[in-house]
Amino acid sequence: MAQNALITGWGMYAPSRVMTNDDLAKLVDTTDEWIVSRTGIRERRIAADDETATTLSVHAARDALSVAGLDSRELDLVIVGTCSADYPMPATAVLVATELGATRAAGFDLQAACSGFLFGLATGHSFITSGMYRNVLVIGVEVLSRFLDWTDRSTCVLFGDGAGAVVLQASDQPGGMLGFDLFSDGTGCEGIIVPAGGSAHPASHETVDAHQHTLKMMGTEVYKYATRQMGESALAALRDAGMTPDDVDQYVFHQANLRIIASVQKQLAIPDEKTYVNIEKYGNTSAASVPMALAEAVAAGRIKQGDRVLMVAFGAGYTAGSALVQWTADPARAFLAPGEQTRLGQPRVGEPELSRA
Ligand code: ACO
Repeated sequence: MAQNALITGWGMYAPSRVMTNDDLAKLVDTTDEWIVSRTGIRERRIAADDETATTLSVHAARDALSVAGLDSRELDLVIVGTCSADYPMPATAVLVATELGATRAAGFDLQAACSGFLFGLATGHSFITSGMYRNVLVIGVEVLSRFLDWTDRSTCVLFGDGAGAVVLQASDQPGGMLGFDLFSDGTGCEGIIVPAGGSAHPASHETVDAHQHTLKMMGTEVYKYATRQMGESALAALRDAGMTPDDVDQYVFHQANLRIIASVQKQLAIPDEKTYVNIEKYGNTSAASVPMALAEAVAAGRIKQGDRVLMVAFGAGYTAGSALVQWTADPARAFLAPGEQTRLGQPRVGEPELSRA
């Protein structure tokens, strides 16, 4: 019998440095009112100088492993979805696995921009249901603050840093992924792009001087495409599972813009109580946004055993991904680990430091 791939552990990490909209208004010509009304974002977390995609991932992954009660040495595979890896090479997943002591695990990075976690979840699911592996760690992480042009108000106000992780384990129990959709469209290449630093435009003095190593976005085009494609991807995953929007207990959307989420809610007639939102605290954390929101939704009691959870993301490429998951883990399990003083499974959010002046 084919094995199911169940989510048995989850965790998230947000750096302690908070940057508010008012802080940003000191850097670029913007206001708290503009940012909140156009995006829903009030503040975001920015990685400290000594933090990287690897260190953020390790925090989230340790919590996910603790919730699952899984020793890192039992991991077969570590997948990291990111577009802000520590290095062009080697892969961040390899560094994360080593830091975790996952000595048996293979690791690779997966680049699907903001959809990276969902592409990773589908990949991990396939490795398990095919019988190749039993224990897979899937991480979404970004340190996009290192790839932003802090003089460009149209992009620098949107993004934040963070990490989220889940443990997938083989099981004979029913549950796990019921349906999914993955989508790519390279005609959207220019919509969201870091133009230089790759083989098309290698780093040079000119590319650095022209800020070509930072994220560029055609906001309005992306907005239109995202609203349509997120709705279509969500419906495709539901069709794959033979279900309709009403069959979903909780939606966890990519947190890019509150107005995009509201538009998809309207298209699919999804009520607010079924839509978890945390964009006001973290901004757009790209590949980290869905697993961070998932971990927070579980901790907030929004996801219970047996619930059907539909995760939906959209990102550069363009890419989109959706996964309908039957939640099997007891959320309370995270808080009952014997002898543990920590807030296992609770969102790990660094204590706020003073806002950057
Ligand atoms: N503060 C004040 N004014 C601003 C700011 C700012 N931070 N940014 C832009 N403006 C101005 C513009 O210059 C423009 O002024 P103008 O009319 O004088 O030219 C005006 O505000 C309106 O700009 P628009 O771009 O039309 O504003 P819009 O309402 O479309 O909102 C936004 C912009 C928030 C970027 C929106 O387009 C959006 O959310 N796009 C989608 C982003 C997204 O989803 N990305 C997801 C994927 S990211 C990834 O995968 C890595």
